[in-house]
Amino acid sequence: MANPGRGGYKHHMANSPAAARIDPSLDLEREILRLKQDMNAVILAHYYQEGEIQDLADFVGDSLALAQQAAKTTADVIVFCGVHFMAETAKILNPERQVLLPDLHAGCSLSDRCPAPAFRAFKEKHPGAFVISYVNSSAEVKAESDVICTSSNATKIVERAPKDRPIIFGPDQHLGRWVAKKTGREMILWPGSCMVHEIFSEKKLVQLMTEYPEAEVVAHPECEERVLAHAHYVGSTKGILDYVLRSPKRSFIVVTEVGILHQMQKAAPQKTFIPAPPDNGCACNECPFMKLNTLEKLYLCMRDRTPELKMDPALREAARRPLERMLEWSA
Ligand code: 13P
Ligand code: SF4
Repeated sequence: MANPGRGGYKHHMANSPAAARIDPSLDLEREILRLKQDMNAVILAHYYQEGEIQDLADFVGDSLALAQQAAKTTADVIVFCGVHFMAETAKILNPERQVLLPDLHAGCSLSDRCPAPAFRAFKEKHPGAFVISYVNSSAEVKAESDVICTSSNATKIVERAPKDRPIIFGPDQHLGRWVAKKTGREMILWPGSCMVHEIFSEKKLVQLMTEYPEAEVVAHPECEERVLAHAHYVGSTKGILDYVLRSPKRSFIVVTEVGILHQMQKAAPQKTFIPAPPDNGCACNECPFMKLNTLEKLYLCMRDRTPELKMDPALREAARRPLERMLEWSA
C-alpha cells in the first residue's frame, strides 16, 4: 500500500458527461496550456487536486499560499482548481478579475456545516468576543468575522488577537482546540469538523505505526485530538510537505487527504509515504469535493469560460476586510 503512485488515486473520466462534450482526439494538457496563453490566465491548484491537475498548474499550494498568489496575480483570469471557498477568496481579493472553477459544486463540509444565520446567533450569545474564522467558511461567515486564518497561520493570528477579549473560533473545532493548546488562549469553539479529516481511524493508525515503527506520523490539524496525539508533526498541507522533505527519516505515515502525496513523491522519490486509512474500509482518504474537479472539467471551464464565480459586491466588500487583515498579519 506504500507509495500508491499517481495511478492509485487518479480518476480516469473517459465516460463522464464532461468527457462526452470533448473531442476525444484532443490533447487536453496541450489545449489547456494554449487556452491559458490565449486568455492570459493563471492556474492555481490546491495540493488535494489530482496529480495531473497539479502538474499543469502555475502554482500549487495550501490555502494561505493560494490566497497570497491570488492577491498578487496580474493575470486577467484566475482558474482556481480547489473548492468553492478558495475560489471565492480569490474573487474577494480580485474583484476585477474573472475567476473560473472547474466545478461550481466543489464545496466543503466544514463551510457547509456553518450557515451564516446560525453563526450570527452563536456570536450573539458571546457579545464582545473577537471572531476568528478559518478560511474554510462562506463569504457570509467571513463577513461576520474580525479576521480570517488558515491552518498555516492560525497560531500567529490567535496570538495577535486582543488579550482583553474572549475569542470565538470557527468553524473547525479540532483546529481550534489544537491552536488553543499551542497558544494557551481559551477559545469559544464552533462545533464544526471536516468530514474527511474526522474519519481517520486512530485504531488503524496505531496498527500502521506498529507495522512501520521507523515511520514518522505527520497530520493535518483538522484531525481529531486523539489522532493528533500520535503525530510527530502537525501542520498545514504545505507545512507537512516541507516537514517530510527536510526530515532525515525515510518513511512517513501521512494523515491528511491523499492528494498531498503527489508532491511528496515527486520531490522525494527515495522516501516512502504511507497514507493513513479512514474508518470506512478504504485504504486512503479523499475529499469528495476536491475530487469533483477533473482535467476534462478544467479544460471545459477554460474553453467555455464557465462556471465563473460571481459575488454580490456588498458581500464581497464585507468579507474583504477580515481577509486582508489576515494577509497583513501573516506577512
Ligand atoms: P491547507 O490550508 O492546509 O491547505 O488545508 C486546506 C483544507 O481544506 C484542509 O482540509
Ligand atoms: Fe473541506 Fe475537508 Fe475537503 Fe478540506 S478536506 S476542502 S476541509 S471537506
